[in-house]
Amino acid sequence: MLCARGGWRALRRCASLPRAVRLRVREALRAREPAEAVRVQGWVRSVRSQKEVLFLHINDGSSLESLQVVADPSLEKRDLTFGSAVEVQGKLVKSPHKMQNMELQAETIHVVGPCDIWSFPLKMRERHPLEYVRQFPHLRCRNNTLGALLRIRSEATASIHSFFQDNGYVHIHTPIITSNDCEGAGELFQIETSREEEDSVEKSHFFNVPAFLTVSGQLHLEVMAGAFTHVFTFGPTFRAENSQSRRHLAEFYMVEAELSFTESLQDIMQVMEDLFKTVTSTVLSKCPRDVELFHKYIAPAQKGRLEQMLKHKFMIISYSEAVEILKQAPQTFTFKPEWGCDLQTEHEKYLVKHCGDVPVFVVNYPYDLKPFYMRDNEDGPQHTVAAVDLLVPGVGELCGGSLREERLPFLESRLQRLGLTDAYQWYLDLRKFGSVPHGGFGMGFERYLQYILGVDNIKDVIPFPRFSHSCLL
Ligand code: 4AD
Ligand code: MG
Repeated sequence: MLCARGGWRALRRCASLPRAVRLRVREALRAREPAEAVRVQGWVRSVRSQKEVLFLHINDGSSLESLQVVADPSLEKRDLTFGSAVEVQGKLVKSPHKMQNMELQAETIHVVGPCDIWSFPLKMRERHPLEYVRQFPHLRCRNNTLGALLRIRSEATASIHSFFQDNGYVHIHTPIITSNDCEGAGELFQIETSREEEDSVEKSHFFNVPAFLTVSGQLHLEVMAGAFTHVFTFGPTFRAENSQSRRHLAEFYMVEAELSFTESLQDIMQVMEDLFKTVTSTVLSKCPRDVELFHKYIAPAQKGRLEQMLKHKFMIISYSEAVEILKQAPQTFTFKPEWGCDLQTEHEKYLVKHCGDVPVFVVNYPYDLKPFYMRDNEDGPQHTVAAVDLLVPGVGELCGGSLREERLPFLESRLQRLGLTDAYQWYLDLRKFGSVPHGGFGMGFERYLQYILGVDNIKDVIPFPRFSHSCLL
């Protein structure tokens, strides 16, 4: 049956090989029936040699659980150690142990790649702290915690794509190298060739103009929303913030969506909330054991909090209400809360606690605090814009979005005041040719994982701890 699923080529390969059927550890553990001749490949997670029997546990990354191998002690070899790569062939049988469904009775054990246990930094049966394994970016994926994280990350990625595809969004690959700086925030990595140029700075630009790594795909998505109505992108994003904080990365993944014919911020918030809840429910149901590891050992209270969060609607407060709440707080902040000033991490933390440790949307920010593309609420002369940030417990800002200024005269005068008219002629064009009310948002993927899993440091939810240690991969 396994051959038939792989198509005729696989069938021919299987037929010509006198070898046992190859199973992933996950498939072997979930098998309903015993099987006579199977082979399993993976890395040894434990070796226990007794007088009468040799026990191994093998993991191949397909699940958190390892497969128990039971063998005659005569099959033990010197290089069959923790960390070594092996191929085991034998019979898959029902396990007499309550904790597992199936086990493999080995007939042969072949050590494919030995492992020097003395210099291998991971040790058998030790629960290594995240800080410890962070020192070994090239080996930490063989540890249970990182293994679980990376499977969750993969499932969440697939679920984000499904959410948008199922809701009629078109996926757009927005550029990584771009000449627009979107937020105008000056936190850009500039792209240059490694060639040493004698010429003037102007001439040395590879693209003739300065080019940067993208800080957001938003403006490119706005272009596409003018043809496809609902679009999304999900890719690497770069910010040159020299921050060593536990929630900032120089390279992170951002999920962004843009919706045309959208007149209220409420519509944007609904998509953010639906995305968040759908993806979280999928991850909880598809990776229960992986998530449990985090909720058991890393953030014990997080499971209950997530369950509550999934049942209730997210709260909404205005920026002005937020500032009032902060002003009346019984504690003193390092940054005094004032209308017109940005909310600092300490403010975000307090607001989320004040609202009962649930996700909170803060809407309608001061006009002067936000980028040029946000829609003027016209509640006073340039008083507030239709912006929204989603704040979540433990992490702070998870999503940022807004309605976009679709009215040509408003946008023209704002760009003119900022001296950006020439650079954004193309953007003004979008308001001249079939402009519609629209809006969108961006969600930081790593912050999302940090929140649902209760991980303190953002560097522990990425595959490689980029540019944070001397060992750069
Ligand atoms: O709030 P931001 O800057 O929003 C934008 O870039 C909009 N143009 C998005 C849009 O409307 N299409 O970033 C969005 C989210 C933040 O809320 C945060 O979760 C995450 O991206 N983020 C970071 N995550 C990790 N490290 C950093 N340095 C981050 N900067 C932003
Ligand atoms: Mg923001």
